[in-house]
Amino acid sequence: MTRVFKSIKEWSEFRMSEELKNNSIGFVPTMGALHAGHVSLFTRSVTENDKTVVSIFVNPTQFNDPDDLKNYPRTFETDLAKLENAGVDYLIYPGYNELYNDNFNYEVNEKQLSTKFCGAHRPGHFTGVLTVVMKLLNIARAKRAYFGEKDYQQYNLIEGMADAFFMDTEIIACPIVREEDGLAMSSRNTLLSNGQHKLAPKFFEHLSSSESINEIKVNLEKDGFKVDYIEELNNRRLGAVYLGKVRLIDNVEL
Ligand code: PAF
Repeated sequence: MTRVFKSIKEWSEFRMSEELKNNSIGFVPTMGALHAGHVSLFTRSVTENDKTVVSIFVNPTQFNDPDDLKNYPRTFETDLAKLENAGVDYLIYPGYNELYNDNFNYEVNEKQLSTKFCGAHRPGHFTGVLTVVMKLLNIARAKRAYFGEKDYQQYNLIEGMADAFFMDTEIIACPIVREEDGLAMSSRNTLLSNGQHKLAPKFFEHLSSSESINEIKVNLEKDGFKVDYIEELNNRRLGAVYLGKVRLIDNVEL
């Protein structure tokens, strides 16, 4: 059974109790709408730690588009079943007022990497991500926290934040999990129409081809994608595209 904590105070007391205080904790923060990519993070955490804690919180401060926040899939019952199947011990499931007890008066800003790639197209996005992840890491007090490499820029920023603020939790990157056709697993994939879903794997196909960045952009646009950016970072090619209103991101090692 996955024990659910809606109250941060209740979780924090339990975290410091005799039952838990000497255990190694693995932590996976999520926004729910769980898929096989998340499950791979849970499984890794369950193998490497005494106990695994997951959080589900659809974080409003990282959405620059109100419609995107409104349409973000919320699937609590099936999420809980997936947590139980994966052997996750605890779920932190706070409301906005629990987590933002300061009403977002305090925030974590990064001044370099967060302004590029996704940051250049989604103002305020990474400030929202870093702020909520800082809160969640402080709440979970885990030995290790696991993040998917699909959000490669996010992973780099979180690792940098943990370093910059001498945080105790080790930040671990886990490989992208893909559908059979190559499309990177994402909660947003459920928002694609059937036609868009058929087209979506072409994003990965073009990104991993030997085409130049410019050719990739042209070919994606020809196939019906709207390209936000295609760029390179740390020997990876990163990209973000739109299919209709759905924004997809992906990256490949060069
Ligand atoms: O990657 C996500 O799902 C979110 O950005 C995170 C890390 C849970 C913060 O809200």
